[in-house]
Amino acid sequence: MEKFSITLIIRSIENLLGKGPHSLHEPSMGKKEIQYVSDTIKKNFVSTKGIYVQKFEKKIKNYTKAKYAISTINGTKAIFIALKALGVKQNEEVLVPALTFVGTVNAISYLGAEPHFVDSNIKDFGIDCNKLENYLKKIVIFKKNKSINKKTGKIIRAIIPVHVFGHPCDIENIIKLAKKFRLKVVEDAAECLGSFYKNKHLGTFGDAGCLSFNGNKIITTGGGGAVLSKNKKLNDKIKHLISTAKIDHEWEYIHDDIGYNLRLPSLNAALGLAQISKINNFLSLKRKLFFKYNRILNKIEGIKLFKENKYSKSNYWLQTLILDNKNIPSKNKLIKASHNKNFYMRPAWKLISDLSPYKKKQRMNLEGAREIYKRAINLPSSQSLISKIK
Ligand SMILES: Cc1ncc(COP(=O)(O)O)c(C=O)c1O
Repeated sequence: MEKFSITLIIRSIENLLGKGPHSLHEPSMGKKEIQYVSDTIKKNFVSTKGIYVQKFEKKIKNYTKAKYAISTINGTKAIFIALKALGVKQNEEVLVPALTFVGTVNAISYLGAEPHFVDSNIKDFGIDCNKLENYLKKIVIFKKNKSINKKTGKIIRAIIPVHVFGHPCDIENIIKLAKKFRLKVVEDAAECLGSFYKNKHLGTFGDAGCLSFNGNKIITTGGGGAVLSKNKKLNDKIKHLISTAKIDHEWEYIHDDIGYNLRLPSLNAALGLAQISKINNFLSLKRKLFFKYNRILNKIEGIKLFKENKYSKSNYWLQTLILDNKNIPSKNKLIKASHNKNFYMRPAWKLISDLSPYKKKQRMNLEGAREIYKRAINLPSSQSLISKIK
């Protein structure tokens, strides 16, 4: 074992990847992407009506083995519309990890609902299920088969388990807990195309599951997302709400609800169709990158690379370095040193519960999430990096 030093870590990574720039994550594009996107332009079908949307949705559905898959304009709006269709209303509370991307929490706020922050654990970066159960036992009373927060008097309607950096959270136990407390479950699997728990794709455990195809994800549509579900009524409702809620008529414009216009354009779906055809290759490159990083970093004491847990198959979307407690003071210096060398390390998100729009919202003790923030650093993780490694 070699002694922990910032210089050693930076030198080891630079030796592995070669000289920068290396961003945190960049998309991998090829001829197929150009061909499919050009095709939408040539056919003059660039908007939401084009055939590529249906083709892309079918691929997502088949790949994830979800019963239904609907594409949306982005992952944030996928979460928003899933919560809306599942009946989350203004002033109701939604349990959500404080350690997530801000979009997860904003999706709750768009409904006028209240995020209620819950803790995560460093074992899988997801919701700490045991801790949450003890907390809910203390704060919930049941009234008319609903969970009511004793403190606020508000209904706790739903929970959003987030699968972080591509790694499955403790999803089976979270689903059990949700049943006990009568909560709807919207999985945030935005980062997790290609990740499985006990061979079941993430996003297919809850009432609904959401994916993101933003430019920094394992496959991209430029911007885009999807809602996975297993209930036809729910699926039809989401489909209706993401359009303009227009009912079928040959020529009249009749809308029976307030639609949100969140459909993915065909131009983006064409890009997604080309990208998803490469998912197996992307997954294998990501896994290779994990092993390459692991070989150099496990020689250095006081750090470790995050590895998928039992029963989990991660897409390794973002490689994550975990610092031992004694090395926490080096975190920012390490990140800064990587930027000086033109490769991009990044800390985990600041807890959303600490940000100004959310400072006054309900929360449990968040020490697990704080520990992750202090100890985790994401490394450059693009699948294209493998071709740069000798
Ligand atoms: C955990 C998580 N949730 C939600 C989102 C929102 O997705 P989008 O950027 O497509 O709106 C993202 C990604 O960006 C994410 O990483």
